[in-house]
Amino acid sequence: MDYRRTYVRDLFSMPPGSSTSAYGWVKTRRDSKGVSFVQLSDGSCFRDLQVVIEAGSIPEEQLKLLTTGACVRFDGEVVASPAAGQAVELKATGVEVFGPADPTHYPLQKKGASFEFLREIAHLRARGNTFGAVFRVRSQASFAIHKFFIDRGFHAIHTPIITASDCEGAGAMFAVTTLLETPPHEEPEAVLKARPYLQDFFEKPAYLTVSGQLEAETLALGMTNVYTFGPTFRAENSNSVRHLAEFWMIEPEMAFCDLDGNMNLAEEFLKEVIGFLLERCAEDLEFFNQRIEPELLTTLHHVVESPFERMTYSEAVKLLEASGESFEFPVSWGSDLQSEHERWLTEKKVGRPVILTDYPKEIKAFYMRLNDDDRTVRAMDVLAPRIGEIIGGSQREERLEVLERRIDELGLPKEAYWWYLDLRRFGSAPHAGFGLGFERLLMYVTGMKNIRDVIPYHRAPGQAEF
Ligand code: 4AD
Ligand code: MG
Repeated sequence: MDYRRTYVRDLFSMPPGSSTSAYGWVKTRRDSKGVSFVQLSDGSCFRDLQVVIEAGSIPEEQLKLLTTGACVRFDGEVVASPAAGQAVELKATGVEVFGPADPTHYPLQKKGASFEFLREIAHLRARGNTFGAVFRVRSQASFAIHKFFIDRGFHAIHTPIITASDCEGAGAMFAVTTLLETPPHEEPEAVLKARPYLQDFFEKPAYLTVSGQLEAETLALGMTNVYTFGPTFRAENSNSVRHLAEFWMIEPEMAFCDLDGNMNLAEEFLKEVIGFLLERCAEDLEFFNQRIEPELLTTLHHVVESPFERMTYSEAVKLLEASGESFEFPVSWGSDLQSEHERWLTEKKVGRPVILTDYPKEIKAFYMRLNDDDRTVRAMDVLAPRIGEIIGGSQREERLEVLERRIDELGLPKEAYWWYLDLRRFGSAPHAGFGLGFERLLMYVTGMKNIRDVIPYHRAPGQAEF
């Protein structure tokens, strides 16, 4: 057995008369007079292969094992299919059953099982239509993102996953420690109290990163255009459909770039990646359009073709105040926008993605460049219909005194940022970047409503199975 062989996706373009083999898992078997039909899937493409088994062509005891979930290889001949919706099928001449799946216990039996239920058997859900499609789109999207940046001469960098600095200053971090590896008779809390951080692995408090941005900035101020694409962690105690405790983020960082350049990159980036997926994942997206989110394809084409709306936070607040809508959270200048506000702006007001800029400094991170009004910062959030915030970014504060003042105002530990401040001491440059939540993008492109359904194994409060 070699990976270089025919996959189900290849079979569809083989001329009738070819003899070949097909490997995969049985989705369903239907028996009628003198013939059985098996739908076989190997995840290589959206379509299943129909295998026709005429009576007597394979032994009876093998046929019995061909139940939903069984893993098999069929040998046979590609024949033109009389059935609608498929050009060819496989007429079986032999079968090998690698792994049967006892129908009384196999959990993935029913068609139309709820996504909630499938989350509980996430180790098996990739065998179904929806999750096969989600993970194929995820794979192609990851490739499209790397391609976008590499094509433009950005350098791919890898920023650390364990870090001692809190990039967002929001404090929703997971601690990393070896102090809790204690003998079973010792209480973890007591051990932590008794042993200061100096005895911990890194000899200081360490965390799982919430963003690779600060480290990405250091490489941008030396290599000009870089990006990092890795896992990020936030201990947000939120059960929302848009938050994960472990998610993937794409963070480009550019020297000699201001907020306008940053917005241009974000817009070009989303359009190109979505355009690529419309082409590469046509069958999978067609399925999402039919079964998950009506109008999905129309919306995605619209996003690729029309310019994003750009407005300041202050303009957006005025529109929201004048909207006449009764929001659960009232809006006024200075308050953070909630997802209901973001959705009203993108869905009702504008009808396509909106880039909001120049937020009040109080609701944004310390590193964002302060505007001359001393009240707002050069922040940008890209908001998408259905999702709300999909990208957050900014022009960075490159002036040493201003940055130091912001760090002091917010009461952050300045000593810990010595290397970040060094970048402003020596050869500082205007620079900017953003972060795209990979799973938010996937929700947008697939129409899936819960972020837990676009990552193979989700991490959320109380959720770390598998
Ligand atoms: O807006 P955020 O917090 O920005 C940053 O972390 C910056 N350091 C990025 C940068 O400028 N380099 O997060 C960026 C994006 C959000 O817009 C959202 O799409 C996603 O990351 N995100 C999450 N996705 C899933 N689960 C969560 N808990 C998320 N928190 C943020
Ligand atoms: Mg944000």
